Amino acid sequence: MAVKTFGVVGAGQMGNGIAQVAAYPGGLNVIMNDIADQFVDRGFDTISKNLDRLVAKEKLTADQKAEILSRIKKSTNLEDMKDADFVVEAAVEREDLKLGIFKKLDEVCKPDVVLATNTSSIPITRIAGATKRADKIIGMHFMNPVPVMRLVEIIRGLATSQATYDLTESLSKQFGKVPVECNDFPGFISNRILMPMINEAFCALMEGVGTPKAIDDIMMLGMNHPMGPLALADLIGLDTCWAIMDVLYKGFGDSKYRPSPLLKKYVDAGWVGRKVGRGVYDYTKK
Ligand code: CAA
Repeated sequence: MAVKTFGVVGAGQMGNGIAQVAAYPGGLNVIMNDIADQFVDRGFDTISKNLDRLVAKEKLTADQKAEILSRIKKSTNLEDMKDADFVVEAAVEREDLKLGIFKKLDEVCKPDVVLATNTSSIPITRIAGATKRADKIIGMHFMNPVPVMRLVEIIRGLATSQATYDLTESLSKQFGKVPVECNDFPGFISNRILMPMINEAFCALMEGVGTPKAIDDIMMLGMNHPMGPLALADLIGLDTCWAIMDVLYKGFGDSKYRPSPLLKKYVDAGWVGRKVGRGVYDYTKK
């Protein structure tokens, strides 16, 4: 089926980024959904500001920006996804919430529509089990910040069909991304490798091995990482990092994945990163 209208559930930092690349360079009509106007409006503003940067760099004209934004429809009702030809869910990383969204999408979306999830670690096969279209459920995992990062990790569930995979791969390319395939195991590939590193940085911080700046500087200057693991945790969201570690810990039943108590302490304090102005670092002073 030709995809003309692309649905995104969740207008947060991942959702609005996905909506942006679907609209430009993807060229599709987009329905961007969240639970309240304020979240959808905030997501839309972020896209508008990102496009402003491209206008300032003369990569887009003001008219092109207006045309791109005109293709992004705001929605606070999941039923609007009845008009979508492909949907990706990018809600917060909570399994009960995602399963509920997929049950609803399965009811309202046309039967031939692929329902993808941007989950960073929840099993695709379990999400598929909440629907009656397991062959059309797939992981389409974008990286943060979505407009900048080139990867889309595409995850096959146990029953995902080849047609579903092919369509997801071709859309990823249409959005200017490089798709890479993997199978459905806890954390997939990206977070199985990235999160234990971030978690270990919190363990080193907790043990007083170094200051946050020292830990980040060592990884940036010594390993050529664009940002240190603690700054990256602030970008991703400490709540998301903790949720992913918990999935790895429970999914493998192996103590090597136990979440750092310090990471949990920050989450309990509500210091979940840049999105609230405070994580390991304080962003309110800048
Ligand atoms: N949205 C859109 N564009 C952005 C952006 C954002 N949030 N942040 C930066 N950019 C753009 C800038 O406009 C700039 O564009 P140009 O080159 O065209 O001028 C470019 O990105 C570089 O930005 P900066 O010069 O401001 O900053 P930088 O060079 O330090 O790069 C960074 C910023 C891209 C975030 C870089 O530090 C980086 O790559 N960090 C690592 C990010 C990473 O690892 N992401 C994956 C996280 S894991 C994940 O997402 C999966 C999961 O499940 C948890």
